[in-house]
Amino acid sequence: MMARVSDVLGSGKRAEGGRRPVLLVTGSSGLIGSEMCTYFAAEGYEVHGLDNNQRAVFFGPAGDTRWNQARLEREVRGFVHHELDIRDRAGILALVGTLRPSAIVHTAAQPSHDRAAAIPFDDFDTNAVGTLNLLEAARRSCPESPFVHLSTNKVYGDRPNTIRLKELETRWDYDDEAFVEGMPETFPIDQSTHSLLGASKVAADVMVQEYGRYFGMPTCCLRGGCLTGPNHAGVELHGFLSYLVKCNLEGRPYRVFGYKGKQVRDNIHSRDVARFAHEFIRRPRGGEVYNLGGGKANSCSVLEAFRLAEELTGQRQVYTYVEESRIGDHIVYYSDLRKMRQHYPAWNVSRSLHDIISEIVAAWRGRGNP
Ligand SMILES: NC(=O)c1ccc[n+]([C@@H]2O[C@H](COP(=O)([O-])OP(=O)(O)OC[C@H]3O[C@@H](n4cnc5c(N)ncnc54)[C@H](O)[C@@H]3O)[C@@H](O)[C@H]2O)c1
Repeated sequence: MMARVSDVLGSGKRAEGGRRPVLLVTGSSGLIGSEMCTYFAAEGYEVHGLDNNQRAVFFGPAGDTRWNQARLEREVRGFVHHELDIRDRAGILALVGTLRPSAIVHTAAQPSHDRAAAIPFDDFDTNAVGTLNLLEAARRSCPESPFVHLSTNKVYGDRPNTIRLKELETRWDYDDEAFVEGMPETFPIDQSTHSLLGASKVAADVMVQEYGRYFGMPTCCLRGGCLTGPNHAGVELHGFLSYLVKCNLEGRPYRVFGYKGKQVRDNIHSRDVARFAHEFIRRPRGGEVYNLGGGKANSCSVLEAFRLAEELTGQRQVYTYVEESRIGDHIVYYSDLRKMRQHYPAWNVSRSLHDIISEIVAAWRGRGNP
């Protein structure tokens, strides 16, 4: 169902009237946004999604998310889609003012490093200014409602690359006791190379923290590692595992950028991201920051991901190697999950890397891949 602001006038009062709580999800047609929609609808929320298929503008037809919007409209009971751009300040103020949601999960973004350099205005206007539009709309209309922001580990810039590393057969790893559990939230975020995407996401991240600290709003930033799952429209510039599996299935060469293919990422299923957002919304805190990833147990190098994909598809992974690494790219990054577990002991990583890749294989096959 598609709705204009005028169609949903007054619905914000529903949560207060003892009826279903209202959730606003931005970027609802994307990987994380769509997972939030299905997850929270099943938890009894009235879910409003906001998306304008900007991913197709950023990445071309391969990034098109209309199929996912259609899936939500088909499968999620009572789902309402709002065709709106988060850069449209007046539109955002009006929608949030009308809905007065019980919680906001903000996932809409320009998510790619490399793309940001080509479209700096679109990148900053979306990631930084779009987030400010939502925060200010929330402050004016529903300051008590938890606000969960999807940030990124790119806020740390390339400073994680200054940690001493050791080279193993198929991966790099930290060679420093302080990081055996992974990257903590206390790691510095400035004075390093971020890419323009990292910089626009830092602006958003700090602003989300500030609305928590300065205005006392229940906000948090989830600094994502590799967030993934079956509903990702993976493209070369964004969506590592999803795109890697797609290449495997199509027999198309995957391009490895530098670090001998031994660069390490931690991977978390979008479902586990939604489960954490739910924990936070149930028991919110103010201006918090969490490194949200699969942790060391769900980490893999590109070479290790090739082997896993091959095992699961039965097809050889073809790849080419580009000597130069991507600007600002991490050599090793996996999240230290101890703060999340300490604040929210009921939460855990429920899907292993093996489970995640099998689901991605099944999903691409379901969408017509060989
Ligand atoms: N997927 C990852 O590996 C990863 C890692 C770290 C952080 N994150 C962060 O998580 C969030 C969600 O990522 P994702 O993987 O679901 O991305 P995605 O590209 O799959 O989804 C984002 C959605 O936002 C929409 N969108 C973009 N700009 C918009 C605008 N101006 N107005 C309205 N809608 C707009 C897009 O059309 C898309 O459907 C982003 O903030 C991203 O930076 C993702």
